[in-house]
Amino acid sequence: MGNNIILVGFMGTGKTVVGKALAEALGFQYLDTDDLIVEMADKTIPEIFSQEGEAQFRDYETEAIRKVCKLRDHVIATGGGAVLRDENVALMKKAGKMICLAATPEIIYDRVKTDTYRPLLQVGDPMASIKELLALRKAFYDLANVRIDTSKLSIAQVVHKILMI
Ligand code: S3P
Repeated sequence: MGNNIILVGFMGTGKTVVGKALAEALGFQYLDTDDLIVEMADKTIPEIFSQEGEAQFRDYETEAIRKVCKLRDHVIATGGGAVLRDENVALMKKAGKMICLAATPEIIYDRVKTDTYRPLLQVGDPMASIKELLALRKAFYDLANVRIDTSKLSIAQVVHKILMI
């Protein structure tokens, strides 16, 4: 098994901020699969969703996961839907510890409400979408080795918890 730390979890659970702080604490490199997808497609995520569709986005995502899972000494933050394909989960599990960050729907809503870069939440009732997607994805997020609820924790506290695993 690889020595990477792979952060999965819903949008707004803190994967990016925690991932960057964790990488610094460990002396690891930080990578975000969404950044890789943007590079590969040479388009923003909203552009990929609107011009190519979600299915194509998921193909880019699997390609990005395949690439990063070959590395060592990395903290890898993934998009909220990265757990939805068995193939992605198998790759991530081989590459290191898969840690799921979680938060309540209210906290997630609060963290993402002003954001325009998450196409799945650019809908009339984002709170309803958050609740619906969380319910649909629960079983997939449960595939992670560890789950940490970040709702009431600071970034430093989450990093500390991960370092204690
Ligand atoms: C998605 C989450 C996003 C991004 C895309 C789809 C999802 O990443 O990959 O908008 O399906 O939950 P973040 O979780 O980093 O926001």
